Amino acid sequence: MIWTKEKRYRRIEEASQEELLKLRSEVNGCKWRQSYHIQPETGLLNDPNGFSYFNGEYHLFYQWFPLGPVHGLKYWYHTKSKDLVHWENVGIGIEPTTAYDSHGAYSGSAIEHEGKLYLLYTGNTRDDNWVRHPFQCMAIMDQSGEIVKLERPVIDRVPAGYTDHFRDPKIWKEGNEFFAVIGAQRLNETGCVVLYRSEDLLHWAFAGEISTSLENFGYMWECPDYFTLQDKGVLIFSPQGIEPKGDQFENIYQSGYVLGSQLVPNQLSLSHGSFYELDRGFDFYAPQTMVNPDGRRILVGWMGLPEIEYPTDKNGWAHCLTLPRELSIKEGKLIQQPVKELQTLRGQQYEANAVLADESRGFAGFSGTAYELIAEFADFDASKFGIEFRVGKDEKTVVQYDAVQKKVILDRTNSGEVVGEDYGTVRKCSLDAPVIKFHLFVDVSSVEIFINDGEEVFTSRIFPKEDSHGIRFFATGGKANLCAVKFEV
Ligand code: FRU
Repeated sequence: MIWTKEKRYRRIEEASQEELLKLRSEVNGCKWRQSYHIQPETGLLNDPNGFSYFNGEYHLFYQWFPLGPVHGLKYWYHTKSKDLVHWENVGIGIEPTTAYDSHGAYSGSAIEHEGKLYLLYTGNTRDDNWVRHPFQCMAIMDQSGEIVKLERPVIDRVPAGYTDHFRDPKIWKEGNEFFAVIGAQRLNETGCVVLYRSEDLLHWAFAGEISTSLENFGYMWECPDYFTLQDKGVLIFSPQGIEPKGDQFENIYQSGYVLGSQLVPNQLSLSHGSFYELDRGFDFYAPQTMVNPDGRRILVGWMGLPEIEYPTDKNGWAHCLTLPRELSIKEGKLIQQPVKELQTLRGQQYEANAVLADESRGFAGFSGTAYELIAEFADFDASKFGIEFRVGKDEKTVVQYDAVQKKVILDRTNSGEVVGEDYGTVRKCSLDAPVIKFHLFVDVSSVEIFINDGEEVFTSRIFPKEDSHGIRFFATGGKANLCAVKFEV
């Protein structure tokens, strides 16, 4: 299919039964369908939206174009879960149906109020000259799960000083007041975040721009999220237009945070430290957080990036969401750990303990295409050590620690079918520690690697052959003490 504008901006009812059946069978025939990640039934998934806990369940929506692996007319697709692990596909959450969201129900967030879940999202519209006009729209979900849109947008214009790149409201409540941050572009084409306030979620007042020390940091900041954690203020956003710097900012677009003092709404200024990338892998963007009933701050991201072709495109679908991660702060840095509920996925367990001396070894039970693996390397004098996984004939993905450079390195050069090659096939990140722990969640076409209990995370899609399922541990230029456990998922 040639994805002309007409084909992209079609509603699901405009596709014939024949087209839908063909698409579904292409998707179902794909060897890279995931086994325990949220993925679209057909078409393209992007940002997580409306992540919340309401009426005894977690709700997690995502940006969805149903008809193919392209960014077309976006819907919100609705999934829910009792445990953050097993997700039920509910169906379409928000459809683009009105004059205020005619070209897509774009990203947004959710908050509970008076027994209902309020969903604030960007209605994307385009005029005859294909110029964007964004509106911030509200939809309300009741306890039965029915979602009804308000007739009129709750924010019907872009404030003076900003372009039509103005989207992705993230709501929170403080005291009796509601706040929302929105990603924006100034008229001079630099990115920033603005703040709105409301007493009832229906009437919103523009409070102003949040001033940070990143005055000139990319041309657009998408998907902002602000929250307090352990008495600090954390601002997450996805800036576009940042140049690579050393081992940082290698992906087409970035996603990261600044951490500092709490935002004082009347002052609108945030004093903070440097911008850190949330994830050092190849495929991570537009994350969103929520606080769960026991007070944990949980983050989910899009395991993909805009404007990059993926090998599943030819099967009519693209992308998935990351596993949920719990956030905490340690020494001025955000730590991300897989939520503990994921342990319920653990099946049969295998263990390996060995001193590796200039060698590469496999162990009984250590193979597969969907598993959790924890490998700790200690007492090392090797110059490099690590794990090769999804190993097959001519294929492997490698995560290793280079003890000379003191860097963690993820290499997907030989992972299988290539993706995003223009942006390189290796990712690196500095880390200096006496023990290196790699905690991997491998699914059919992805890996999420938590390093040293969430100090760093590398999230990546990989597209190996089905029979590339080997796992090998290695140490070169010396020895390392390995202690590993693998759980089938
Ligand atoms: C980020 C983003 C958002 C927008 C949405 C549209 O990936 O571009 O800014 O709301 O995707 O799908």
